Amino acid sequence: MRVLVTGAAGFMGSHVAEGLLAAGHDVVGVDDLSGGFRRNLLPEVEFYEVDLRDAEGAARVVRENPPEVLCHLAANAREGASQFQPRDVCGRNLMAYVNVLVPAVKHEVKKVVLYSSMAAYGDQKAPFDESMPRRPVDVYGVNKGAMEEITEILAEVHEFSYTVIRPHNVFGERQSLRDQFRNVVGIFMNRIMRGEPLYIYGDGEQKRAFSYIGDSLPAFLRAAELRPEVDGEHINVGGKKPITVNEMAKLVAAEFGAEPEVVYLPDRPREVKDAYCTHAKSERLLGYEEQFGLEEGLRRMAEWARTLGPQPWSEDRLELPSSKAPRIWMENDTHGKDCKGEADRP
Ligand SMILES: NC(=O)c1ccc[n+]([C@@H]2O[C@H](COP(=O)([O-])OP(=O)(O)OC[C@H]3O[C@@H](n4cnc5c(N)ncnc54)[C@H](O)[C@@H]3O)[C@@H](O)[C@H]2O)c1
Repeated sequence: MRVLVTGAAGFMGSHVAEGLLAAGHDVVGVDDLSGGFRRNLLPEVEFYEVDLRDAEGAARVVRENPPEVLCHLAANAREGASQFQPRDVCGRNLMAYVNVLVPAVKHEVKKVVLYSSMAAYGDQKAPFDESMPRRPVDVYGVNKGAMEEITEILAEVHEFSYTVIRPHNVFGERQSLRDQFRNVVGIFMNRIMRGEPLYIYGDGEQKRAFSYIGDSLPAFLRAAELRPEVDGEHINVGGKKPITVNEMAKLVAAEFGAEPEVVYLPDRPREVKDAYCTHAKSERLLGYEEQFGLEEGLRRMAEWARTLGPQPWSEDRLELPSSKAPRIWMENDTHGKDCKGEADRP
């Protein structure tokens, strides 16, 4: 079948596209390369460089390739920075989604797989279970919650199937190492390669269950199948071993045989203390299991990161600079430093 993957040049989208191709599907990919990389795209993917905030551009992609399944991953997924980049986050999440969903429904898409986020749970007590209500506390989470709700409403009225995936701190090969606003594992790896300190927000005792892409991908791919059991379901896909950010800093440093300086900064506004999820539903409906686990995943990602070498930080700026934003987001000193590796530009 034909599957349209948005965010196909991104980290997870490129793995999803690759997995779908391997399963024999035709894959059409769309991405504006704002956070993804051309080198992540396989030649077999029919690729459109389109910004989904442009409704006509999104409609053209769908018109030329009406999909049976839409896997929507395009996003600005900088949860912590979303309070300081609200326009970009709303445009690249909610609006981009509606712009591609409307033509897909018009062209009778059978199924939508929406990549939402654990941010939809907000500041509730972990572990987050799918039975909990949506209660987002940040701009990114509000977007994801609205995207989920709009999917539920349109699916009922216009009669298509959907599955909402709520992934959790996924890491692995092809993740951007250049984004100082998100992906703590990639940030730590790049800072170590660049010889910079590791910055930790708060006391570093906040818990996350990091998920290696190799463990999450089979579940993501099963979610795209046309199976009644997963219709209308919201499913967490997250790692099984919660660890603190302090512990993650030590694990990453050990992978690189490094002893970086660790600098503690104030908490980021509205950051949730502990965020990890239950697994019963993903195990039951998507056969989630961990073949690699945290340490092996980190080893593989570190090996890949070393081949890429130190990366320049992305030059994106905050829309609402504020003394409440981490000072490293406000400073220019981390931008454009000389790197040994070739600049990994999109
Ligand atoms: N990685 C995680 O830990 C995680 C956790 C929870 C949810 N998610 C969700 O999973 C999805 C994929 O995340 P990822 O980590 O692979 O992020 P990513 O940044 O690597 O991929 C997102 C892609 O979307 C593209 N994009 C952004 N705005 C666009 C636009 N207007 N038009 C077209 N393309 C656009 C970017 O260029 C990028 O390639 C996102 O929806 C994210 O919210 C990820």
